Amino acid sequence: MIKARNIHKFYGNLEVLKGVDIYIKTGEVVSIVGESGAGKSTLLQILGTLDQPTTSGKFDTEISIAGESFINMNDRQLSKFRNQNIGFVFQFHQLLPEFTALENVLLPTKIAGLNEKEAVEKAYGLFEDLKIEQRLHHKPNQLSGGEAQRVAVARALINSPKIIFADEPTGNLDSRNADDLHRLFFDLRDKYNQTFVIVTHNPNLAEITDRKLVMKDGLIIE
Ligand SMILES: Nc1ncnc2c1ncn2[C@@H]1O[C@H](COP(=O)(O)OP(=O)(O)OP(=O)(O)O)[C@@H](O)[C@H]1O
Ligand SMILES: [Mg+2]
Repeated sequence: MIKARNIHKFYGNLEVLKGVDIYIKTGEVVSIVGESGAGKSTLLQILGTLDQPTTSGKFDTEISIAGESFINMNDRQLSKFRNQNIGFVFQFHQLLPEFTALENVLLPTKIAGLNEKEAVEKAYGLFEDLKIEQRLHHKPNQLSGGEAQRVAVARALINSPKIIFADEPTGNLDSRNADDLHRLFFDLRDKYNQTFVIVTHNPNLAEITDRKLVMKDGLIIE
């Protein structure tokens, strides 16, 4: 699902990614752990097309998702690629406050140009899977932290992305809500063969993923 080779990232003279290679199979749930500042978020942003690696002609960097290389795409092509292939879940849900849970989840389908009736049916299905079907018309400030995160997961899944990137998705939740959300990731993998790459400081989650990658000083060391 992901094939990436020789990813470098510099901020000025500071090299925060030092030639990362990463391969992830379809349906895998992979965690990335490591100390603060190791480069986990930077790597996730680059794999998720939200940031660019430093190439400057020096490195033969390659990154592809589902066989499609995106490293030379322009902004418009990248936005489309992202909308169709990639879902994100962040530490803070980043739902839009003036929209209901359902409206938030439907936004990516509008960008993708999906038929509205089909999109709403699909959203209902996800709200059921995520056990938030009683919260369709709540605004984000009327949701608990765990519910808001599950809405954010529904939003990430609505366009049936090939892969979901999550950056400390349960970092802001109590342990029960965190465990519930972790279980959900595995349910979604079992049901949709969904691939997940999850940056986490949560040892419980890291232990139950299929593979745990440890980052240190800009490299994956195990
Ligand atoms: N925009 C930027 N400009 C300069 N330096 C940056 C920038 N973004 C990140 N860095 C630096 O890059 C390094 C890696 O940051 P990154 O956010 O990837 O770490 P992380 O592993 O996700 O840490 P944490 O666990 O604290 O989230 C850090 O030393 C950080 O200070
Ligand atoms: Mg981070």
